[in-house]
This record gives sequence, C-alpha cells and structure tokens, in this order.
Amino acid sequence: MTFLFNSDARRGAVFADAFARELPDVPFTMDTATVDPDAVRYLISWTVPDNLGRYRNLEILFSIGAGVDQFRLDAVPANVKIVRMIEGGIVRMMQEYVTLAVLALHRNLPGYLAQQRAGEWADIEQPQAGSRRLGVLGLGQLGQAVLDRLKPFGFPLAGWSRSPRQIEGVTCHHGEPGLNEMLAASDILICLLPLTEETRGFLDADLFAKLPKGAALVHTGRGPQLDHEALVAALDSGHLSAAMIDVTDPEPLPADHPFWSHQKIILTPHVASVTQPASAAQAVVENIRRHRAGLDPIGLVDRSRGY
Ligand code: NAP
Ligand code: GLV
Repeated sequence: MTFLFNSDARRGAVFADAFARELPDVPFTMDTATVDPDAVRYLISWTVPDNLGRYRNLEILFSIGAGVDQFRLDAVPANVKIVRMIEGGIVRMMQEYVTLAVLALHRNLPGYLAQQRAGEWADIEQPQAGSRRLGVLGLGQLGQAVLDRLKPFGFPLAGWSRSPRQIEGVTCHHGEPGLNEMLAASDILICLLPLTEETRGFLDADLFAKLPKGAALVHTGRGPQLDHEALVAALDSGHLSAAMIDVTDPEPLPADHPFWSHQKIILTPHVASVTQPASAAQAVVENIRRHRAGLDPIGLVDRSRGY
C-alpha cells in the first residue's frame, strides 16, 4: 500500500521523513516512473495526473492545497476519496494575509502609495475601525479563522455561507437574501469561497454595485471567481476604492494586464497561503490513520457540492 508524492521534491523530503517516522509500514515514493501502479493506495498531488487510471487500487487522492477546484472531480473514479488539505500552516498564513490586506485597505495604503509616487504629502480621511464593516464570503476553515484573527481590531464583522452558521461576534448570513444584506453592509469585502460552478464569475459588476460606495475588495479565493474588467470599471468609476488581489485568471497575468499598474490595486502572486510541509505531512498521516480505522478523513470533499 504505497503512498505516492507527486509534487516538489523539497516538500516531498519532509513528507518522506514523516512517513518513515509515523507510518513505517506504508512505503513512500516520489518516483512515478518506477512505482508499481497497482501498489499505490494513496496519492498526493496539486492537479489530477493525466494517467490517474493506472492507479487501479487508489483509495485516497489528497490535494496538496486547501482548494480542490484544480482537480477535475469527474476525472476521479467514484470510489476514490478526495481530500483537501487542512493544516495549521495554511490557516495561519491566510490569517496573516487577510489581516495585512484589511489593515492596508482600512488605512488607505493604496492611496498613500499613489501619493508617494506623485510626491504628494496629504491626509486621506480615516474612518475608525468601529465604522469599517467587514464582510467575509465563505465561512469555512479559512473564513472563520480570518474572522477570529480580525476580532481584536474592533471592525464590525459579518460573513456569508451556503448553510446557516453561528459564530460568536459575527453577523452570519446565508443564501441569496443574506448575501444582498451582507453586501450592502460591507465596506471591505473578503472572498474566501471555493471555486465551484456556483462561484465562478461571482465577483462581477452586479455584485460590486450592491456594495456601498467606496467599498474595497480582498480576493484570496480563486482567480476565475473575479471578473477583471468589472473590477477595473468599478475602481475607475470610483464606486470601489481599492482592492488587494492574490488570485487571478490566468496566473500569472499577461504583461499588458491592467492589474499590474492600476493605482488602486495591490497585486500578489497567489501567495496568501502556502502549504507548510511538516504540518501538512502530519495531517496526511493522521488522515491515513483515520481511513485505516474506518473513519472519514478530515477534509473529505463532497463531490455533489464541489468542495
Ligand atoms: P471550506 O472550509 O470548504 O469553506 C468554504 C466556505 O464557502 C463554506 O462556508 C461554504 O458554505 C462556503 N460556500 C461554498 N460555496 C458557496 C456558495 N455557493 N454560496 C455560499 N457559500 C458557499 O474552504 P476553506 O478551506 O475555507 O477554503 C476556501 C478557499 O480558499 C479554497 O477553496 C481555496 O480556493 C481558497 N484558498 C486560497 C489560497 C490562496 O493562497 N489564495 C490558499 C488556500 C485556500 P457552507 O459552510 O455552507 O458549506
Ligand atoms: C492554495 O491556493 C491552496 O488551495 O492551498
């Protein structure tokens, strides 16, 4: 029952150590060329390999990241469990990134950077945190962790999910009416939704129009959720004030894309969260133990929802 690691060798070496220590009876390999395909029970990868069908005895396909949209779910046989990455490093980094983004937007950093480039020394009106309302799209492991980290700053906090949620100190919304209610009261909107057929193109002109004038966007979900032209139009018209964008479609953006030089956009190259190998290996080891004990792995993907 071999574990096949199909990703970068640096992280693979950390996984190899963890398997040798924690699951010595599970052979570990990174060598797709020489592995006996019939022995492979567990596979970790960022995308679904084209030749997945050769692993006829595969039981679990692990995503090396928190998202699984890069997997074509229908290309994975129905009996194979698909498991996304739930590990502390991803969560901590997302908390850091969204805190950075929210504070940058709250304290008008894009405006001050533009003024610096123009040699201008001037105050920009500064609302206090208590009147800057935050709305988080997606109340899963990352949305909830981010809200928790933002609590001490005193921003009024809200969030939106598919099913009803209750989170202390957060106004929780769900469904279509709940979305409109939250958007109307979000001065900074943070997207932490998984990419599914329902959320593709979600951040579009209609959605931006429902935000209060002067609202800002933090996008750390997935690139195809954002309509780039609609964002630029909303920023140029002044309806939105600024955006911090970590994910785009495509990645990387072409050299002539307006996001590179837009004065109201801070762009980062999909680095909000990066899977940390030591804690990720431990999470995978625990999930294999659960699976062998007849329990569902943590992070098991519901194929009907797509996340
Ligand atoms: P998760 O635990 O699965 O949570 C997803 C949340 O989104 C849930 O609250 C879910 O609602 C909600 N949701 C999904 N579809 C919805 C819909 N159609 N309408 C309303 N709510 C919907 O996911 P996660 O671990 O927090 O991760 C979220 C995403 O972050 C990942 O899928 C990935 O795309 C992105 N990500 C980005 C980076 C980066 O570096 N930029 C890093 C890691 C992850 P329910 O609670 O009702 O299920
Ligand atoms: C990164 O984007 C991830 O899904 O972990």
